[in-house]
Amino acid sequence: MTLATNQKQLWEDSFDEAIARQAYNTAPVEALVRTVSYWLRDRYTLEQQKDLHFMEMGCGAGPNLLWLANKGIRVSGVDIADNALQLCRRNLERAGVGDRIGELVAASATQTPFESGTFDGILEACVFQHLDKAERVAAFAEVGRLLKKGGVFVGYMLDAGHSTFQRKQAEQLADDPGSLMLTDGGSKIHLTNIGLAHFYRREEYFELLKGFSMVDPCLTTYYLPKEEAKRRGYDEYLQSMWTVYAVK
Ligand SMILES: C[S@@+](CC[C@H](N)C(=O)[O-])C[C@H]1O[C@@H](n2cnc3c(N)ncnc32)[C@H](O)[C@@H]1O
Repeated sequence: MTLATNQKQLWEDSFDEAIARQAYNTAPVEALVRTVSYWLRDRYTLEQQKDLHFMEMGCGAGPNLLWLANKGIRVSGVDIADNALQLCRRNLERAGVGDRIGELVAASATQTPFESGTFDGILEACVFQHLDKAERVAAFAEVGRLLKKGGVFVGYMLDAGHSTFQRKQAEQLADDPGSLMLTDGGSKIHLTNIGLAHFYRREEYFELLKGFSMVDPCLTTYYLPKEEAKRRGYDEYLQSMWTVYAVK
């Protein structure tokens, strides 16, 4: 099995499990909502927003695309997992915004079939953190290729201050510092069983998004409730995440 086939299988298994438990994500990621809202408000009237075309890399069940489509924005998505894409299409159609769907494509974020300069905005949430080094470089380059000039990228990714990384950093991969192989066994829904996870440092974004007119990574941290931290085997569990705002 190649790495890509492996990843596809892993994510499809994760979605099968999530669907069976009715536990897949249906909530738009707040950090994306806020950041994109500011960008939209600054530049477009509500009417003008309907002419925009956004894309999400690793759209999953589509909660972020649904939030955009509800504004009348045209939305496309890419995901490596076929079952996630089916779910995404169904969720958008059920919500009555099927007519706002551009294309939902089974592909890796590292190489998509869209033409250069297609999108006004590209979103990413908790996807680029699971790519290896070469894939990360390729995925960020793909973001740069696909955005129009002045288009916005908003991504949401793990930070090196995260409790999981702080606990396990002695195990980071020798050839890819900042990355851990998380395979504790059990549920595929949890971070600790999803395979490769990369915990970004601020400087990495300026290198990965070279050529953008603005790159502004913003750190958000919060502690999980003690009970949940305990369940995960921690006294305190800090979620430390980057919201990366970048304009081409
Ligand atoms: C943690 S989920 C997040 C889903 C969605 N962004 C959200 O906020 O609900 C990660 C998603 O990325 C997809 N994915 C993983 N690797 C990918 C890749 N190389 N290219 C495209 N999608 C990928 C998975 O199938 C899954 O749908």
